[in-house]
Amino acid sequence: MRPKISIIGSGRVGSSVALHVGMKSLGDVILVDIVKGLPQGEALDLNHMAAILGLDVEFVGTNDYRDIEGSEVVVVTAGFIRKADMTRMDLLSKNSSIIREVSHKIREHSPKSKVIIVTNPLDVMTYVALKYTGFERRRVMGFSGLLDLGRYKTLIAKELTVSWNSIEAPILGEHGDSMVLLPKKTLVGGRRITELIGREKVEEIVRETKGMGAKVIALKGWSASHAPGAGAAVMVDSIVRDKNLVVPLSYYLQGEYGLSGVCTVVPAVLGADGVKRVIEIELDPDERAELMNSAEKVRQAQEEVERLLVE
Ligand code: LAC
Repeated sequence: MRPKISIIGSGRVGSSVALHVGMKSLGDVILVDIVKGLPQGEALDLNHMAAILGLDVEFVGTNDYRDIEGSEVVVVTAGFIRKADMTRMDLLSKNSSIIREVSHKIREHSPKSKVIIVTNPLDVMTYVALKYTGFERRRVMGFSGLLDLGRYKTLIAKELTVSWNSIEAPILGEHGDSMVLLPKKTLVGGRRITELIGREKVEEIVRETKGMGAKVIALKGWSASHAPGAGAAVMVDSIVRDKNLVVPLSYYLQGEYGLSGVCTVVPAVLGADGVKRVIEIELDPDERAELMNSAEKVRQAQEEVERLLVE
């Protein structure tokens, strides 16, 4: 039997995740949405794509959560998107109640699945999903790190005229303005980019990376979808095929990096059981301070959500 991968939310991001999961032939894909017709229509279109390309996968569209039963992975993209003039935190109250409801459904209908959250504000929604699925922490994680790294790498690749395949870079912290990029630990051919690119340019690349989500929204009038779809599919791949890729993902920390009780992006080994372990990078004092500040922002938002969801 092929693995079953369910995607909650069939908008641009959800359908892009479906497309990329299908292109990698990772399994059969269940598209779920509350809008009648939308997931069914996307599934038809995607099945036609599979037939053209000869992919042995099937797409199913549904409005019924019972169809996610037995999923190996559930990817959650449901929720409101961020508009150009909104911060990710503005989405907090709207999306936290949606993610709570979706989490209850996942717990009810696919209690053994691994859950990947894509909805913003990413780290806080990962926290909400962990809380309301009640799953062990290794099975609940947030997608964003691969997206932000993809953006960072395109800028470095352009500056140095090297392939982005030759860049190794870690990322930590919030998926937001306080994300922590680590230029001193970003390597091209074993050399730090801080030795290859002038300080001001490095600062510009970091700034541009942080602003890239908003730039994409402002230009195309809609949130990024191709890159998030591709990145989420890389995580699904690592789980379904037990690849043990080291992936930057948002994770509920319990002592790692000296942080506890907060979801934030860290590099982690991802396989069939979910998150197998967190990779702890040794940080300089300035990098550590940046991470603490970023995690603190998420912690405050988590507390805000706790209040909102009780009301
Ligand atoms: C992005 C937003 C939508 O980074 O979080 O594209």
